[in-house]
Amino acid sequence: MSEEIKLTSETIELLHKRVSVRKYSDEPVPQEMIDAVLSAAFRAPTSSNIQAYSVVVVRDQDIKDELSVLTGNQRWVAQTPVFLAFCADLRGMEGALERHEHDLDNNNLEIGLVSSIDATLVGMSAYLAAESVGLQGLMIGGVRNDTKSVAKALGLPSKVYCVFGMCLGFPGEVPKLKPRMAFDHMVHHDQYDADKLHAGLDAYDKALADHYRSLGRETTDASWTDDIDSKFAEPRRDDLREALKDLGFDFR
Ligand SMILES: Cc1cc2nc3c(=O)[nH]c(=O)nc-3n(C[C@H](O)[C@H](O)[C@H](O)COP(=O)(O)O)c2cc1C
Repeated sequence: MSEEIKLTSETIELLHKRVSVRKYSDEPVPQEMIDAVLSAAFRAPTSSNIQAYSVVVVRDQDIKDELSVLTGNQRWVAQTPVFLAFCADLRGMEGALERHEHDLDNNNLEIGLVSSIDATLVGMSAYLAAESVGLQGLMIGGVRNDTKSVAKALGLPSKVYCVFGMCLGFPGEVPKLKPRMAFDHMVHHDQYDADKLHAGLDAYDKALADHYRSLGRETTDASWTDDIDSKFAEPRRDDLREALKDLGFDFR
């Protein structure tokens, strides 16, 4: 289906070329570029115009080294020229409530979700804006391995947490595009078609196994389903809810 799609645009082409980049050149990234990327990203929509996000731009090597360890010794976090921490941030909303003698101490799942979604939409917008000016990188969910220590490393006050990070730089090495699940597996028309699940998984297992083998990487024939099972059969980051509560987000 997707092969038959002819309509394109600069943005569509940019999206079709996007890939996570983990090696960066030594070329410095001008702050003007980061500012241009972020100011464009801040045009992203936010729920009820709450704009419940903030971004910490990290260039300090000691902080990047610390974040590299906290995210599970991810070396690209230490090597990236710029690390952006996209945060859910309730402080603006709370400041507004305080003017009316209210607070956000009693916040719930809805507030946690909308602020995390706001931060995510801004992050993805920044990612694409960065690609449009020649920067590449990747998102880092590893910040949630130890959410409280990451908050401390970034000096985040209460009611701010880092949803994900982003490495950004001029690319040193751009990997081959990773295949996606088939278009028809992901898209439903008018009614969700639950019957196509397993044929889609079989096809993707094969596509991903072929991809990894073409790179000389070992994998099983059931590449994706085996990987997902090994990562998610047991709950991950099971202490996250308590950690977020301590940071002022009560996902109840
Ligand atoms: C929210 C989010 C968090 C991610 N966290 C990490 C991470 O901590 N480390 C990493 O190497 N890649 C991370 N990735 C990158 C994914 O592994 C990558 O997007 C996925 O394997 C697909 O590959 P591609 O982006 O090259 O197409 C993350 C991606 C997203 C969207």
